[in-house]
Amino acid sequence: MEFKELVSKRRAYRKLEKINVTDELIKELMEVVKLAPSCNNNQPWRFVFVYDQEKLDEVNKTFELQNKWAKTASLLIGVFSKPDLDCQIKGRDYYLFDTGIAVSYLILRATEMGLTAHPTSYFDEQRAKEAMEIPSDMKLISILTVGKRKDSDKINLSSEQEQSEIKRPKRFSAQYISYLNNYVGEYEENKKRFSSIFDES
Ligand SMILES: Cc1cc2nc3c(=O)[nH]c(=O)nc-3n(C[C@H](O)[C@H](O)[C@H](O)COP(=O)(O)O)c2cc1C
Repeated sequence: MEFKELVSKRRAYRKLEKINVTDELIKELMEVVKLAPSCNNNQPWRFVFVYDQEKLDEVNKTFELQNKWAKTASLLIGVFSKPDLDCQIKGRDYYLFDTGIAVSYLILRATEMGLTAHPTSYFDEQRAKEAMEIPSDMKLISILTVGKRKDSDKINLSSEQEQSEIKRPKRFSAQYISYLNNYVGEYEENKKRFSSIFDES
């Protein structure tokens, strides 16, 4: 699959059907993580792959109300790290940045394998760490839900979440989030500069 096609195929779906979690799947996901760049090659990312039903149930209980759909996932991946596993340069901590890069590799590989890997942030960190036996000094950054997209399912989603199953949520225009040569605070001014590159409105 072409890279651009892969990127556009990736979605954070919430309606998932069961998959068989194999050693091979975990190996494939970790193989790409290992190639991700990091500051000084520190590789600060750590993962717990949760797939035993009893453990899944335990971790699922730690999701907040808006993430109750997560119980449809066959695999949950606890993503954790801490600041001193990575560069700390004059007040700039790189552990979240580098872990995010590695996770994006994992998500894209899952997508390529026909799966959905959806990051979550609304969970009880303390309880989720206890369930996965993650040391207390670690930051549980995200729990990824992994499964296969299911077209229709009767699970309780908000109308916004339901809409997002059908259509990708809107993105900012390039002119809104990037600048040419220097930062221009005024959006209308920045838009003019971009007009030769993009014809987005
Ligand atoms: C760091 C991070 C945390 C997220 N947390 C949640 C979450 O707790 N619950 C949820 O339903 N979606 C969560 N999402 C998914 C986003 O809502 C989703 O990526 C966004 O709406 C864009 O949709 P798309 O990924 O399908 O393009 C999270 C995504 C990221 C990257």
